[in-house]
Amino acid sequence: MNILKSVQIIEVGPRDGFQNVSKFIPTEIKQTVVEKLINSGIKRIQITSFVSPKAIPQMRDAKELSEKFLQKYPDMELFALCPNLKGVEIASQCGYKEVSLVMSLSESHNKANINMSVQESLVQIDRIKQAFPDMIISQDIATAFGCPFEGEIQIDLLLELIYRINTFGINRIVLCDTIGIASPNLVRRTLRSVKKEFSKIEFNVHIHDTRNLGILNSFIAAEEGITGIQTSICGLGGCPFAPGAAGNTATEDLVYLFNKEGYKTDINFNKLMECAKFVQENIEGQMSGHQIKIDTSVRCI
Ligand code: COA
Ligand code: ZN
Repeated sequence: MNILKSVQIIEVGPRDGFQNVSKFIPTEIKQTVVEKLINSGIKRIQITSFVSPKAIPQMRDAKELSEKFLQKYPDMELFALCPNLKGVEIASQCGYKEVSLVMSLSESHNKANINMSVQESLVQIDRIKQAFPDMIISQDIATAFGCPFEGEIQIDLLLELIYRINTFGINRIVLCDTIGIASPNLVRRTLRSVKKEFSKIEFNVHIHDTRNLGILNSFIAAEEGITGIQTSICGLGGCPFAPGAAGNTATEDLVYLFNKEGYKTDINFNKLMECAKFVQENIEGQMSGHQIKIDTSVRCI
């Protein structure tokens, strides 16, 4: 009997995907997308972010959206992205038990994205941990594989940053390829280095598909033993503060690949495609996914 390898798809489309859509998506449409994602079997979803509405106007309905789902789905792993203490305060008031914080490895992207130096971000994380000791926190490290302004990353700098974040008691770290610049060997090397150095930290990945390498790099991460992989429905997304960045690896494309390659995701592919079609028909954004381009009448496998 074949033993399936388990992997968890972490859907970030409602945050990372939607944040890059310039026209405001009505809250009811966002709600329907999240409902359809849940209906497909996805358990872990980043449904919004608590950020300055001036920085990301699309997220201005974060409270309204959150309150509905946190009450309705207490057993789901729903979380929100927060760039600072104020964001975590609002998230906590909404009822979140888990948030993801974000900072970049590179100084220039951190400044462009959240207007802080790397050191200021670390001070902020410390303050958040002290103010909310019971909040479950995962830490996104943006530009972990390369920066639009500074180029290649130094692995030593990444290891040093992870070490400092871990001293605050944060044990789940998401390595983000914000601009989709990683290649399979860089992914392998980086993951092997961080896992060797920090065996007790859980590492997830979040890979953008700028160069059509998102699915390959995400799959390589799974083959390297990463069990939490962030994706976005239809491949929507991008970072408004990283020039040229495209959307994340498309959820439905990666689920299709995992199904083929003997990975267990607990996601119903047909229901996921219903969600993807709904997004395609109702949201005006750039979508890099491939499954949504296939004529269903010829989808024979
Ligand atoms: N949620 C809502 N509003 C917030 C906020 C938050 N987490 N943090 C700050 N604000 C508000 C402040 O109240 C202030 O409002 P005002 O102008 O009406 O008084 C305004 O935003 C500016 O606050 P300030 O603390 O000076 O922040 P800033 O201008 O230095 O911007 C961030 C810093 C982090 C708030 C902003 O850069 C941001 O929201 N970035 C999000 C980036 C992002 O989501 N990127 C993509 C994901 S990786
Ligand atoms: Zn992203």
